[in-house]
Amino acid sequence: MDLGLANAKAVVIGAAQGIGRAIAEGFAQEKAEVLLVDRAASVFETAKQIAADHSVPASSFVADVVDPTAVQRCADDIEARCGRIDHVVFAVAIGSGQFGFPFLNVAPENWEPVLRVNLLGAVHVAHAFGPKLIATGGGTMLFLSSVAGQIGSQTDPPYSASKAALINFAQCVAKDLAAHNIRVNTLCPGMVKTALNRSVWEAWHRQQPPDRQQSYEDWAGEKVRKVIPLGRWQEPEDIANMAVFLASNRARNVTGQTINVDGGFVMHW
Ligand SMILES: NC(=O)c1ccc[n+]([C@@H]2O[C@H](COP(=O)([O-])OP(=O)(O)OC[C@H]3O[C@@H](n4cnc5c(N)ncnc54)[C@H](O)[C@@H]3O)[C@@H](O)[C@H]2O)c1
Repeated sequence: MDLGLANAKAVVIGAAQGIGRAIAEGFAQEKAEVLLVDRAASVFETAKQIAADHSVPASSFVADVVDPTAVQRCADDIEARCGRIDHVVFAVAIGSGQFGFPFLNVAPENWEPVLRVNLLGAVHVAHAFGPKLIATGGGTMLFLSSVAGQIGSQTDPPYSASKAALINFAQCVAKDLAAHNIRVNTLCPGMVKTALNRSVWEAWHRQQPPDRQQSYEDWAGEKVRKVIPLGRWQEPEDIANMAVFLASNRARNVTGQTINVDGGFVMHW
């Protein structure tokens, strides 16, 4: 299926590794120009690799989404580099690093860093890149949320709440920008083997007595079998496939939606 994304300019924030990296690769496979942003300097290496693997222009920028000035500078630099911006993906998130069951395990002061990155980071990105998409005359924004934002996950309440707030914020942005031909959606992965996913296990593991401890593979494997009807992990490429589809004109009537790529983890009716 030709998604018509060749030569489009796609910005992926949180692209050094994990799902963001896979999404940048997904755009590159469609021959879009990709602009990778992350707070980790390893984003330079990731961009080099993607350019070499897919023969597309790929550049990298270091910025921390918590800092609105840095995000604005980054958006200006990207616009100066490629003239216009068509698609923006926000794939950044952190967890609290605490095992939050019950929620009393997570001290109130552990909430703030999570909300700063996962929610305010997205707000900074929307403020910096929204006007650029308006100037382009149309485009898309995609925010990576989570199934945890829809079901009140008991593992990390600050993370879960930040993801619910992100879904709500994305709906506001979708309504506001629709008149500018800009579509805005949230994409919710279920269980993907990444550093972030593993950090949830680490927080759990630290709190268990020795006789209850399990390896990451056993702990997460059990969870996947129990809560995911399809009984399998989601791969970063599964999320990337949906991300590029949503950016394409094939999804031209999809906006303000929360789309789960989760093996059936969440089913609304
Ligand atoms: N892995 C999963 O099972 C899973 C499930 C549901 C949702 N998600 C969502 O998918 C998205 C990607 O997660 P992932 O699993 O690939 O995580 P990851 O930890 O592998 O990647 C996150 C990236 O964000 C970057 N980052 C973190 N804080 C930043 C900041 N302040 N400024 C700029 N960059 C920053 C990191 O350096 C990293 O490259 C997140 O929104 C996450 O909530 C993941």
